[in-house]
Amino acid sequence: MLQEKITQYTQEIEAFKPSSAEDVEAFRLKFLVSKGIVKALFDEFKTVSSEEKRALGKVLNAFKQLAEQSYKDAAAEYTGGHTDRNKRTEGDLTLPGPGFALGSRHPLSLVRKEIVEIFKKLGFVVSEGKEIEDDWHNFTALNFAPEHPARDMQDTFFVKGGDTSEDLVLRTHTSSVQVRLMEMNQPPFRAIMPGRVYRNEAISARAHCFFHQIEGLYVDENVSFADLKQTLYHFVKELYGEDTKVRFRPSYFPFTEPSAEMDISCTICKGKGCQLCKHSGWVEILGCGMVDPQVLENCGIDSQKYSGFAFGMGIERITNLKYEIRDLRLFSENDVRFLSQFETELI
Ligand code: PHE
Repeated sequence: MLQEKITQYTQEIEAFKPSSAEDVEAFRLKFLVSKGIVKALFDEFKTVSSEEKRALGKVLNAFKQLAEQSYKDAAAEYTGGHTDRNKRTEGDLTLPGPGFALGSRHPLSLVRKEIVEIFKKLGFVVSEGKEIEDDWHNFTALNFAPEHPARDMQDTFFVKGGDTSEDLVLRTHTSSVQVRLMEMNQPPFRAIMPGRVYRNEAISARAHCFFHQIEGLYVDENVSFADLKQTLYHFVKELYGEDTKVRFRPSYFPFTEPSAEMDISCTICKGKGCQLCKHSGWVEILGCGMVDPQVLENCGIDSQKYSGFAFGMGIERITNLKYEIRDLRLFSENDVRFLSQFETELI
């Protein structure tokens, strides 16, 4: 019975001469789908005696292969599923492939790099510290006594100190790196310290809960305020050009004495007055001063022998002035429409 059916269907398949895609599909539906003949014959095979099984197993497998191969050949001719190389329709293989989309440096990295390069040429080395700091390095060593009102100048994020009872902070400025550097070494130092800092401020176009600073520190014998001014003049001219004007205003920081803030003539309106400089013609770019002798002593440095200057600036502010960016939030939103504008600055 089964043997006869196989012979009969084999003949049918051998005689199969399709003339259209419809014929091929009809063949498939008749023989190869799950309710088709091949499956039915295999089902029947399960019911026959073991003697017949031995005799027919191979024949049935050969039949199945014949059905599948016949379908493949027919499909290759009449439907899209060609197996013949010359008939492939996969498109022009000689076309060049799609290009890779390259990333670009973040504007803050570009500017940080530029600032670092300027100071490197003056002999400053890069030094880094921790973003989670203890109270000593962020405040106390820098003359912020525990109840010192100047602590309010910086809206601090506090962090629970794990299994120690000590409270930690997200550093509010990179001046903490100054302390670490001085504690571990003896003068002379000439270092700049780039890094991310955190302050608990409502996020807006003009303020963010984190930003980036670069702090500089120079300690040696006989370092004076004149050295500080000369270094910063040089920096501004290198970064913004020869015709940029600079002015110092007296200011206050607990860790420097005397202290100053430095303004430059607005790079956007060249001092004529615009929205960015609030029509004053000047923009503040950094804080600076002579390191307070007490801070030197706190870090184990002889303040009779050594003196030093320090300065600190926000990289966002410097970048805004360079690229006329008016919203701080753009720096951390990762919008490629913003970031891709800096693609030309890859190097
Ligand atoms: N640490 C100060 C701030 O974050 C900036 C500063 C650094 C001022 C070094 C003076 C000297 O505002």
